[in-house]
Amino acid sequence: MEIGYDPAPAFWGRGLMPEAVHAALGFGFGPLGANKIEARVDPGNAASIRLMDKLGFVREGLLRQHEYEKGRYVDLAAYSMLKSEYERVNTSRIQL
Ligand SMILES: CC(C)(COP(=O)(O)OP(=O)(O)OC[C@H]1O[C@@H](n2cnc3c(N)ncnc32)[C@H](O)[C@@H]1OP(=O)(O)O)[C@@H](O)C(=O)NCCC(=O)NCCS
Repeated sequence: MEIGYDPAPAFWGRGLMPEAVHAALGFGFGPLGANKIEARVDPGNAASIRLMDKLGFVREGLLRQHEYEKGRYVDLAAYSMLKSEYERVNTSRIQL
């Protein structure tokens, strides 16, 4: 499964996405039965990378010139979390 997020600017920096993505992970690994959830992030987006790190996602690598955006090809960083990692980290150990 893949997860993405793009809140309106008025809601940035309030800690909402860590909470929302964490809830989505619980739904994906729980009722939906996913084994792996991935996210693709602009490698220059420090806030989004911080979000991935905070939640315990693992960076798998760089997808080179993977998307065409505003007239140019851009890289994307590939992040993922496995169900076993989610279970190991579990709710109490994720620092939101
Ligand atoms: C990236 C984004 C999803 C994070 O969600 P959020 O609800 O703002 O998350 P938080 O409030 O927890 O902030 C994220 C973390 O990044 C940090 N951060 C914010 N701006 C930063 C910057 N310019 N450089 C480094 N870290 C930054 C925050 O301090 C916070 O870390 P902390 O808890 O250790 O202090 C949100 O800011 C956003 O949507 N931005 C624009 C759209 C976007 O980039 N979407 C993602 C596409 S991949």
